Amino acid sequence: MLKLPSPCYVLEASKLLDNLKVFEHIQHNTGCKIILALKGFAMWGAFDLMRPYLHGATASSLHEAMLAKEFGREVHVYAPAYKESEFSQLMALADHITFNSVSNWQRFQQDIAQSSKYTACALRINPEISEVSTALYNPCARGSRLGIVADQMPESIEEIEGFHVHALCGSDDQALARLLQAIEEKFSHWLPHIKWLNLGGGHHITRQGYDVAHLIQLLNAFSQKHQVQLYLEPGEAVGWQTGYLTSTVLDVVHNDVDIAILDTSAAAHMPDCLEMPYRPDVRGAKEVGVLAHDYRLGGASCLAGDVMGDYSFAQPLEVGQSIIFEDMIHYTFVKNNTFNGIQLPALAIQDLDGHMNILRQFSYDDYKYRLS
Ligand SMILES: Cc1ncc(COP(=O)(O)O)c(C=O)c1O
Repeated sequence: MLKLPSPCYVLEASKLLDNLKVFEHIQHNTGCKIILALKGFAMWGAFDLMRPYLHGATASSLHEAMLAKEFGREVHVYAPAYKESEFSQLMALADHITFNSVSNWQRFQQDIAQSSKYTACALRINPEISEVSTALYNPCARGSRLGIVADQMPESIEEIEGFHVHALCGSDDQALARLLQAIEEKFSHWLPHIKWLNLGGGHHITRQGYDVAHLIQLLNAFSQKHQVQLYLEPGEAVGWQTGYLTSTVLDVVHNDVDIAILDTSAAAHMPDCLEMPYRPDVRGAKEVGVLAHDYRLGGASCLAGDVMGDYSFAQPLEVGQSIIFEDMIHYTFVKNNTFNGIQLPALAIQDLDGHMNILRQFSYDDYKYRLS
């Protein structure tokens, strides 16, 4: 077996395929199109595997749009605001472009009209439902800059073909039902004029217990009633439980508790642990006090709070041993940074036939040339 570099993210292709088959089932039974939100999972080494199952990719910037083009199917773009200097390039790449505000749409209306290439335009609406308790992740929190609330909508939306809404995060089918209801209640005036509705991300479809049959029922009822093509653009649900981050113990110190210092970092490699915050599962470890040896797992940066959490292990931890963090594929390497110059984890994929391929290893140049 190939020895993995440390730290290293490993995507398990068979697990990704399991998720993709759930999306295939939904698309087959609804006619809804599911596209990949690159912001959550942008491992282009796995595009060949995903391409047959997903209708395209959605981008939130010019660079993501360029990568979405490489995906090779529909390219969707949404960003909170577009830049004059990038807009023509975005138009050239995008099949669908969504504007976050009426003013940003109006600013580019002339460019759209004069473009030789057709790009379908949409507005992002804000249904003002708060389904997400963590404010940092709640697009509909009071004062949110994301999307147009109903009382700010223009009366007529003639050149607009679609609506986009992103109001969920790690949510279930019941939350989707409430979202659809809020859209009907608040945006009924405009619904007859649109051809498609993109329901954004935040649908935790591949999580155990998600009621896929109910999702199918909801999507079919809505699309038939309003005669719209529906889209979903999950990120987390695509990469959910599809791989891990392997790391190494560099030192064990003691200050009130035993602390293992690892060659990875919550701040640089798993930022959601600090932002959400949440505690990742560690292979073979349990809650503190359950197994014989308790440890705090800490990162290699100088940030005092660079801590992944407290765990218990059956055996004492030793320098050089591997620590494996589970479910570390979505919203991890897409957010990585080189804070403290810490080594970026390598990227690997375990193929469907079980072979381990190291896709990329990072070097001093990757650190140096982001600086000047
Ligand atoms: C506009 C938009 N679409 C899709 C997504 C993907 O969401 P998730 O990864 O939770 O499915 C996000 C996440 O922030 C988003 O902002």
